[in-house]
Amino acid sequence: MPWNPTLAIGVSEIDKQHMTWFDKADQLFEAGKNRKSAEFVGEMLDFLDDYTKKHFGDEEAYMLSINYPGYPNQKQQHTAFLESLKKLKAEYAQSGGNILVILNANQLVIDWLTKHISTEDKKLGDYAKSVGK
Ligand SMILES: [Fe+2]
Repeated sequence: MPWNPTLAIGVSEIDKQHMTWFDKADQLFEAGKNRKSAEFVGEMLDFLDDYTKKHFGDEEAYMLSINYPGYPNQKQQHTAFLESLKKLKAEYAQSGGNILVILNANQLVIDWLTKHISTEDKKLGDYAKSVGK
């Protein structure tokens, strides 16, 4: 499932990053589905992981800059998701680059992104609006 306008939270920089984030996830799973080489899929997984870290860092900095009260909860969810990605990377490496490991994680990752954005990040967007940001 691609990014769609119902996922917009109204903070343009964050919305842009969410779109890119979905693109990275999509590129990873498309590479898996199209049976690209294990190296290529591994690279896409690294790109997704790197981008996730950058995005969470930027998003958290934004939350702190506007004194967002939901920050601790967001931080906790971000940390847990990064932990899942770390596990996925380790599992992929241990399997010797088995693409099934990636394909099995597809729904989980997409569901997490969609749910996190439509609940937690939406609340952040509402708060930003309420304080005039
Ligand atoms: Fe978030």
